[in-house]
Amino acid sequence: MSTYLITGVSRGIGYGFLSNLSSNPENTVIGLARNRIATEEKVSKELGARPNVHILQADMTDYNSILRAAKETEKITGGSLDYIIANAGVMSPSEAFANIGELAKDPKVFDDAFSYTMSTNVIGNVYLFTSLMPLILKGKAKKIIAISSGVADIELLRKYDLELSPTYAASKAALNAIVAKFSAQYAKDGVLVMSICPGMVDTQEFAGTTDEQKQKFGNFVQNLQRYAPHFTGPKTTESAVEDLLTVVGKSSVENGDGGSFVSQFGTKQWL
Ligand SMILES: NC(=O)c1ccc[n+]([C@@H]2O[C@H](COP(=O)([O-])OP(=O)(O)OC[C@H]3O[C@@H](n4cnc5c(N)ncnc54)[C@H](OP(=O)(O)O)[C@@H]3O)[C@@H](O)[C@H]2O)c1
Repeated sequence: MSTYLITGVSRGIGYGFLSNLSSNPENTVIGLARNRIATEEKVSKELGARPNVHILQADMTDYNSILRAAKETEKITGGSLDYIIANAGVMSPSEAFANIGELAKDPKVFDDAFSYTMSTNVIGNVYLFTSLMPLILKGKAKKIIAISSGVADIELLRKYDLELSPTYAASKAALNAIVAKFSAQYAKDGVLVMSICPGMVDTQEFAGTTDEQKQKFGNFVQNLQRYAPHFTGPKTTESAVEDLLTVVGKSSVENGDGGSFVSQFGTKQWL
């Protein structure tokens, strides 16, 4: 029996984690979502009654909501927590198809994009880990997993000219650094803190994209194919979650995984 707290469970990979982990009635799964009621409705409609699922309201940009969720988690679990899966993440819509030169032409646009990605992807997780650390220290598994991205790998960016989504990439690189800092502090207490990239997963909708945007994304994918010629396209959420949970299961402080940044294969191969 294990206790899990997952952020960003309203949809995508976070929902996939919630669905997978709560299928074992022995697990207690706490899901954080900005819209608690809508998420509860989706869970009950799609997964049926799962008494081991608890949805709590929290916005990663709102410190007090994270603190409240940590207090509610303590009540649900009785004071401990085995796993955190820090999955919630954003890319600014203004940079989905823009390179750094295009984005930084307007300082306001650049500032907004950077604040948006940093506050959710980095600062929110610092508060999340800090608020929940007392529970993790009392847990059995003691694992904190941040869902990062291969685009935080600077060697990949530079060798394959991956131009798009600059502040998203920078925020995930900052997240990896923060993860290493938490590991540096807490590995001696047996807490594994690490970053894992899920690979490319079929969660995004591209409805309404212009021909120019499609062309830019096509170039981005072509560059990724230079890196991974076997890559044919995104995988399903279900299969991504299975791969990620395999890596989580195999990783430990004892094996030297604390503070590391690896892919869904547990390596530096991102696709
Ligand atoms: N999909 C991929 O190919 C891919 C590749 C590499 C890395 N990743 C990473 O994997 C994670 C999940 O990706 P995904 O594709 O599943 O994303 P997604 O479908 O866009 O879902 C993002 C989740 O994060 C939540 N979220 C966003 N901002 C939030 C905030 N301020 N407070 C609380 N929750 C917030 C969203 O909630 P709302 O419904 O309230 O917006 C949603 O549940 C992200 O960290 C992403 O960067 C994904």
